[in-house]
Amino acid sequence: MHHLGRVAQRRALARSSRHTPLRYSSSTSESTPRAPRSLPTSPSTKYTKVTHPEDAQSISASTKQYLDRSDAYVLPVYARPPFVLSHGKGAYVWDTEGRKYLDFSAGIAVNALGHADDGVVEVLTREAGKLLHTSNAYHHPWSGKLAELLVTLTQRDGGLGWEAGTSSSPQHGAKVFFSNTGTEANEGALKIARKVGKERWAKKTGKAWDEPSCDKHEIVCFENSFHGRSMGALSVTTNPKYQKPFEPLLPGIKVGRLNDLGGLDGLVTDKTCAVIVEPIQGEGGIHPATVDWLRALRKKCDETGAVLIFDEIQCGLYRTGTLWAHSTLPVDCHPDIVTMAKPLGNGYPVGAVLMRDSVAGSMTAGTHGTTFGGSPLACALGHHVLSRLSERSFVAKAMETSAYLHSRLSLLPKWFPAILEPKIRGQGLILGLGFKDAAHPAALVGMARERGVLVLTAGKDAVRLVPSLNIGESEVDQTVDVLESCLGVLTGRQ
Ligand SMILES: Cc1ncc(COP(=O)(O)O)c(C=O)c1O
Repeated sequence: MHHLGRVAQRRALARSSRHTPLRYSSSTSESTPRAPRSLPTSPSTKYTKVTHPEDAQSISASTKQYLDRSDAYVLPVYARPPFVLSHGKGAYVWDTEGRKYLDFSAGIAVNALGHADDGVVEVLTREAGKLLHTSNAYHHPWSGKLAELLVTLTQRDGGLGWEAGTSSSPQHGAKVFFSNTGTEANEGALKIARKVGKERWAKKTGKAWDEPSCDKHEIVCFENSFHGRSMGALSVTTNPKYQKPFEPLLPGIKVGRLNDLGGLDGLVTDKTCAVIVEPIQGEGGIHPATVDWLRALRKKCDETGAVLIFDEIQCGLYRTGTLWAHSTLPVDCHPDIVTMAKPLGNGYPVGAVLMRDSVAGSMTAGTHGTTFGGSPLACALGHHVLSRLSERSFVAKAMETSAYLHSRLSLLPKWFPAILEPKIRGQGLILGLGFKDAAHPAALVGMARERGVLVLTAGKDAVRLVPSLNIGESEVDQTVDVLESCLGVLTGRQ
């Protein structure tokens, strides 16, 4: 996939003696002079000792009691460590024992502005005192505003068929449907594509759209995808661990391989109504789609009349440095529909389906809906969060931090070549460390947590870094120092 250019450097950082100066190479046209940035010359060993133990003896009686009672009543579908988070601020969270953790997972790519953000709290309290919920039977002041912001920012920053900066002469319009979650956004997108497919088939054959002979209802998805766990979204989430116990799933699902150009023939056909893909696979292991493949996929969709859906629930909303992961791609790679959720409400559940008018035209009153989706509170929060994420200075700072994080991570495969893949995966602030042994990512995540840093696994072989977008260099340093220390311990054990 395209790579974001390195943003300009702020200042030289005074660092310890294990740091030497480094200059970033840049592919951007930024004119700010490059300043040297120092990087360590050897891996940190500062965090080899466990500081946040999780063994039975280290858990207090009151925490143990709470966990036991919780286990008695809560469906055990989550494997969780034995502590209880009580509050957070910025990039940090605290447990009920008073232990502080650096949350480098941001609630799985959700808290883009960090925890307990003052602006978010202000909007939440203000709006909660006015109107929590109206149902979609009535208008309220915020859904129109958030929908307009999503469309105009897409015109400004690029995406959904718009080249960045062409908002003055939009060639087409777009509409938004609000959901509560990412899964629900994908369900909506798939349903919309089904309806569009029937109408396109009817137009082509001259028959009625509800003829039983209509065969344009197949959906194409890709290996290692994650789109959610409802029956529809699960049907296109190609992980046997998630799917098997719940079969039979939706019929007519075809599974291709990401970036397999040759595999597109026979995969996307006249029977395809929807193709759903993450431009950067998140849960599946931080795998970016390539520009050439996305272009070929778009072409196939155009030839067959299939609706192209980009699931940007994890990689979208400025995590890669642009509004959408596909924002800077040529328009002949762009989708018909983009789904989003995670950071839009900074932790409050808000999702959305953004679609071109060519697709939206199929949807009329009563064809889709939700009780809670698009509530005044959700949309006011979404408007606030998106307004802040889209500020140029905010994104520039986030990408500066990303560049520093990337450069520090890039040293790890050199220091630990026996266990790490040579290349860092992903871009912006959705990054992955690939491992040669599938047992290592979960081990590293556990070890980092026992040293006060929360990171995630991804797919079968990666550790995933999806922090808040406003983390600073000190948080990067703490996280990477912990990872280095843990990798040292891990390799020492081998
Ligand atoms: C790419 C992608 N799509 C869909 C989902 C499902 O979103 P949610 O958990 O909000 O339903 C996720 C969640 O991790 C995701 O990463």
